[in-house]
Amino acid sequence: MAMTLAVPKEVHPGERRVAATPETVAQLRKLGYEVSVETGAGAAAAFDDEAYRAAGARIVSDARALWNEADVVIKVRPPEHHPALGVDEATLLRPGATLIGFVWPAQHSSLVDALAARGANALAMDCVPRISRAQKLDALSSMANMAGYRAVIEAAHRFGRLFTGQITAAGKMPPAKVMIIGAGVAGLAAIGAARGLGAIVRAFDTRPEVEQQVQSLGAEFLTVDIDEEGSGAGGYAKEMSARFIEAEMALFAAQAKEIDIIVTTALIPGKPAPKLVTRQMVESMRPGSVIVDMAAEQGGNCELTKPGEAVVEHGVTIVGYTDLPSRMATQSSQLYATNIRHLLTDLTPQKDGILQIDMDDEVVRGTTVVHAGKLTWPPPAPKQPAVALHRPAPGAVPHGVAGMADKGEAGAAARASRAASAVLLGIAVLALLALGALAPSSFVSHLTVFVLAVFVGYQVIWNVTPALHTPLMSVTNAISGIIVIGALLQLGTGNALVTVLGGIALFVATINIAGGFLVTQRMLKMFQRNS
Ligand code: NAI
Repeated sequence: MAMTLAVPKEVHPGERRVAATPETVAQLRKLGYEVSVETGAGAAAAFDDEAYRAAGARIVSDARALWNEADVVIKVRPPEHHPALGVDEATLLRPGATLIGFVWPAQHSSLVDALAARGANALAMDCVPRISRAQKLDALSSMANMAGYRAVIEAAHRFGRLFTGQITAAGKMPPAKVMIIGAGVAGLAAIGAARGLGAIVRAFDTRPEVEQQVQSLGAEFLTVDIDEEGSGAGGYAKEMSARFIEAEMALFAAQAKEIDIIVTTALIPGKPAPKLVTRQMVESMRPGSVIVDMAAEQGGNCELTKPGEAVVEHGVTIVGYTDLPSRMATQSSQLYATNIRHLLTDLTPQKDGILQIDMDDEVVRGTTVVHAGKLTWPPPAPKQPAVALHRPAPGAVPHGVAGMADKGEAGAAARASRAASAVLLGIAVLALLALGALAPSSFVSHLTVFVLAVFVGYQVIWNVTPALHTPLMSVTNAISGIIVIGALLQLGTGNALVTVLGGIALFVATINIAGGFLVTQRMLKMFQRNS
């Protein structure tokens, strides 16, 4: 029987987002679920009950009944004390039911324990692994994107001047100078928004690979003169040495004197935010300047930040809002609800309204923090880093391999596998020699070309990191072009078998070429602005 999916109204003070929109409700109904939405759940995000009803949802006014009847509850904020019912939302979840939403298990260990004690399942949207396959579920990124944009809008709202430079009859106005610290998802969105408003933008990040992304958005990438790589596992940053932090703070101190607006987003997951903007730096900024500290919830990047508030210190406004995505509730809800819908699509392979948690799936495994009453967080380490653009330097030995080589057992295994490949190579050479002696010479020359083509193709494709597979499409397009020419030449020969094989090759290569163009077109669209 189809499961019932409930969408409660968020109870956290000031939270305006909702976990489903009328559009996603219709899609969830197509997955086979019965959907119940609490009265007024989407009101603050501009989705009214009537729209949900029209999309096929049942509107329920009794929050307790809504929770109790649900097999799956989808939420934005982690369960907390329900002010109207006077109980914790976690206790409203039916035993064996599934909760999907932000959970933050590291910060809410008692909540996770309570969910486990109820024999529930909990899927945390904040724990979705940052790997390419899971991008469509990545609510942290979609929310950080909204927050980065909003941070700039908040700054513009507090800033007493224009962002864009202008020369008018009344006088010359220089453009605002904006510095973004941390060019992750939120930082890049902030760069885009500030550039869009016409400001001069500079950005700094500890991960050198973001330099090109920063520049492609039209901002200047600031650097320090210390050779230290900031990229860590899973696409996140790692903690930097004290010497590096000192150097970047010296850079910020120099910049603070001429910058009008600072947006800071620097964060290493699971760590308190690094304190990068000191009281002295704030004091050195021009009165009327604005700092938006997006890391406020983790303690803030600025010494003077008050989480959740906007304060004025020495004439500088410091905004420490922790609810930036909720301040753009309609769009944020649309993105978040879509992330949830994608997850539910993955969890409902039969489209029969029955949720299946497949713990062998890397993405589902990472997201599931409680499974059938058992704590399953933290998950095992991801198999591959999310952004694998950096190859190890020549001669560098990956840590795991270096460790293994020390052990005699592993060394013997490596020697045995080398011997096995040498034997295989020997057999292949002998087979080729035998072929050369027996087969007609035209066959041997074709075979040589074939073997060389396989070898070159293997080398071209095998050494490419997963992150570069899409650009690889253009190379394969070129290869397909060569195949088309070869196939066309073969089509003219009298032999029926050759003609058929040539026809098949032509057909398959054409699919590849057309597909390549389609994918390229879709990628280009991602970078186009809708005017
Ligand atoms: P992210 O992990 O994609 O980006 C953080 C960036 O900071 C990384 O690029 C990292 O390399 C950089 N970084 C780390 N240490 C640094 C240092 N010492 N100096 C310079 N850069 C450094 O994270 P994301 O998703 O962009 O989020 C950024 C921040 O925004 C987080 O603190 C997050 O909690 C916060 N956030 C705040 C919201 C709000 O309402 N205030 C809403 C959403 C996110």
